[in-house]
Amino acid sequence: MSPTQHASWQRLRALAESWRKLHLRQVFERDPDRATRMTASAVGIHLDYAKNSLDQEVLDALIELAKDCDLAGQREAMFTGQRYNLTENRAVLHTALRQQTDAPIVVDGDNVLPHVRAERTRCYAFAESVRTGHWRGHSGQTITDVVNIGIGGSDLGPLMVCEALAPLADGPRLHFVSNVDGTHLSQTLKRLDPARTLFVVASKTFTTIETLSNARSARAWLVEALGSESAVARHFVAVSTAREKVTAFGIDAHSMFGFWDWVGGRYSLWSAIGLPIMLALGGARFDELLAGAAEMDEHFRAAPAERNLPVLLGLIGVWYVNFLGHSSHLLAPYNNTLRRLPAWLQQLDMESNGKTVHRDGSPVDHATGPIVWGEPGINGQHAYFQLLHQGSQIVPVDFILALSQRGQLDSHLPTLVANCLAQSAAMMRGKTAEEVRTELTARGMSAGDIETAIPHRVFPGNRPSNTLLIDALSPHRLGALLALYEHKVFVQAAVWNINAFDQWGVELGKQLASDIENRLKGNEGKQYDASTEALIALAAAQIERH
Ligand code: F6P
Repeated sequence: MSPTQHASWQRLRALAESWRKLHLRQVFERDPDRATRMTASAVGIHLDYAKNSLDQEVLDALIELAKDCDLAGQREAMFTGQRYNLTENRAVLHTALRQQTDAPIVVDGDNVLPHVRAERTRCYAFAESVRTGHWRGHSGQTITDVVNIGIGGSDLGPLMVCEALAPLADGPRLHFVSNVDGTHLSQTLKRLDPARTLFVVASKTFTTIETLSNARSARAWLVEALGSESAVARHFVAVSTAREKVTAFGIDAHSMFGFWDWVGGRYSLWSAIGLPIMLALGGARFDELLAGAAEMDEHFRAAPAERNLPVLLGLIGVWYVNFLGHSSHLLAPYNNTLRRLPAWLQQLDMESNGKTVHRDGSPVDHATGPIVWGEPGINGQHAYFQLLHQGSQIVPVDFILALSQRGQLDSHLPTLVANCLAQSAAMMRGKTAEEVRTELTARGMSAGDIETAIPHRVFPGNRPSNTLLIDALSPHRLGALLALYEHKVFVQAAVWNINAFDQWGVELGKQLASDIENRLKGNEGKQYDASTEALIALAAAQIERH
């Protein structure tokens, strides 16, 4: 059933009419207390959602909509291992990877927890042996550098976490190669000593062409440098669900760390896909990451909607996408170590909720996932924030700021914090013509020049945002933050009645790419449209010339 059929949806449409005419500055003037009411906290994360274009009435209607859409029932279906991913007939159990209690989670008659924990123990033992120097390369040297070869969920999650927690890293140096453009691998290898380099080939399916091409080239580089095929055993491990494919590639089953089909690629950093994190930080830190995520899971499962961070973020997003027509969402993390968070969220959100059919296959009659983008906020201020302040489109923002982190220079912190808080205030209140006039008059500008300047210097304001303040950027808090966004995406999918856990939309491009690659190699293949045919001909000629 479409969510548009619910009375709550119609109610929200009516409320949106009046909110289109309201300005947040007036809303704050009329009700300054909203700043204290419209906050919620969990697991060291304080959410201020007062600067959003909504009030309690809207929030109540959104919560009603979530009830109408059976958010609670869908949430339980996921947590308890039902086959919630209908189109792939799979459970969705990334939460089991971090569950702290022993309450069994049964899939096909089997409790998955012992498997999860046994595999994690193997990963930790391997990571520890590399970190302590027990694991030696082919020529007997310790490992100083690890290259993760993977793409999508087999890259973005571990990469983002390794960057975010880099100040705590005390293991080998980590490198991530994802792009099949050979410069990614060759530029990385240029800096490395083959005798001291370990490759982690990470691929859930072990069929991903980019990853397999990079892995083959890395292996050729290693074998050539170390002079023996047998060197592969000490320098290559794999993380996958596809044991036969891994062994067919030439990596021993003992050197493979597994996970399960009920872990979606973009939800997999909590599994063996997190091996680079374990190598960089050790098992104890990884445990903290899991514990933080598990605490957020419990919060999501148990907290009432009006205090539930994922529910609030999810429903506020629904309000913007479906009722106020804001189809883009910016993530602005202010800590530099969170710089890859937007890329991770892009896959999480857009691969999950970029859908146009309901769970039963019927077409949606409402908008779904927004365009998610971002960079570290303070860099964004000097790049695209102009559009956020004065552009013709409204882009709701999540400002994210952890107030302490190892390695932070205390003298820089007030500048960082001030900028983050200033941006959300500026977006919300804007600057009126009268304010510009007063300011320029005080600066001694002539009346004529002031009137010419005013239209360019007015800020419309009324641009909504959430602010998430985190007490410290520890593994625990990072785990909670990531789980928060995973569940936010879930909440939206539950309301939209779409399947957030498949990704059929990536398949067509893959099929065509394999066919076109054949054509570029001079083989027979399908004929395409005139534009594509011309591009194939041009590119093939260039390739031939090289
Ligand atoms: O093509 C998209 C995708 O399937 C993602 O969902 C996944 O995270 C990524 O490719 C990598 O897949 P794999 O881990 O199987 O190599």
